[in-house]
Amino acid sequence: MDIEVSKIVQGVEPSATLAMSAKAKELKAQGETVYNLSVGEPDFDTPKHICDAAVDAMRAGHTRYTAASGLPELKAAVVADYKARFGLDYASSQCVISNGAKHSIHNALFATLNPGDEAILPAPCWVSYTELIKLCGAVPKIVATQEQDSFKLTPEAFRAAITPKTRMLLLCNPSNPTGSCYTKSELVELAKIAVENGLFVVADEIYERLVYDAVPFTSFPTLFDGLQDRTIVINGVSKTYAMTGWRIGWLLAPENVAKKIASLQSQETSNPCSISQYAALAALKGDQECVAAMRAEFEKRRDYVAERIAAIPGMTAPKTGGAFYVFFNIKNFLGRKYNGVQVDTDKDWCLELLQQKKVATVMGSAFSAPGYARASFAASMDTLKTAFDRIEEFVKE
Ligand SMILES: Cc1ncc(COP(=O)(O)O)c(C=O)c1O
Repeated sequence: MDIEVSKIVQGVEPSATLAMSAKAKELKAQGETVYNLSVGEPDFDTPKHICDAAVDAMRAGHTRYTAASGLPELKAAVVADYKARFGLDYASSQCVISNGAKHSIHNALFATLNPGDEAILPAPCWVSYTELIKLCGAVPKIVATQEQDSFKLTPEAFRAAITPKTRMLLLCNPSNPTGSCYTKSELVELAKIAVENGLFVVADEIYERLVYDAVPFTSFPTLFDGLQDRTIVINGVSKTYAMTGWRIGWLLAPENVAKKIASLQSQETSNPCSISQYAALAALKGDQECVAAMRAEFEKRRDYVAERIAAIPGMTAPKTGGAFYVFFNIKNFLGRKYNGVQVDTDKDWCLELLQQKKVATVMGSAFSAPGYARASFAASMDTLKTAFDRIEEFVKE
């Protein structure tokens, strides 16, 4: 007898970014050198003082269940950090620590969306949003943004997408996959529309510490009074402290929502790893020099990658304002043969680039934006140099 998979789970697509990474790993296992620009994680090691805190936590016996919604000390540290950097007042009971920001997003959506509700999702958008919204039985309302607007949602497009079923805007700032970063005034316009239409906002700010050009980051609930009550902020240690494998993320939400999410998590997963929570605590409370150093290195690479793209005739990309991605237009390079292989779509292009030049990127269609590709610059300068030499060769041949 075949066990039938539930209707809701049947509809879930596998992560395309992970699929490209898997293909790159497969080539590597065959002995090929692969220049992997498909990954969404810092290439730095987790700073030593954070690893030491994890070892100390184990030795001190912090190896048991913690409170299901997270260690009180860690919640207090998150809340203190938001107060110190953004002037926001949250109670610890408004914070839930989870198994990575992805889990926090799932919790936020699951706790707030009912079947049939519409969630507005500016595209290009991160691969998991659409699937997580669908898992709640809700409907992702994908709103295309334009390259000439640096892929930012405009007030007009936002307004036009709202229907009586719309409940929520899911905004990723800085954005994966586009690297776009909203200014304060752009966010204010969007926030006003959300308020006028009775919507709440899930603000995924996981890349907020990785912003460039000395432009200050604006956290969504700081925009004007009252917005904190209709915003769920998502953040975590994965990208800021090179801690993707430790699986610690969090959300900050209105008290009633956070309390229900705490109950949900207590039934679903219990606490996130106790040792990782102590490591995250050390990350937040320790010296922030490691963050500054990683950010500065990413900015150098961002500049290098932008130069390389600008030097390829026919290839364009908006300037990356934050995160570690560049989202580039490959429409001029489709509809032709590469070494005898016909390449018509962004997916073909990325697969042939990997097959022929051993450079892994991710196709724009995985982010609901066909005709583009995403390259991550969370890779060494040497890797970036060789990868872009090869991309240049590939399109010129
Ligand atoms: C926009 C965005 N949000 C959330 C996450 C998830 O982060 P975590 O590894 O903490 O689950 C990612 C990771 O790629 C991301 O790009």
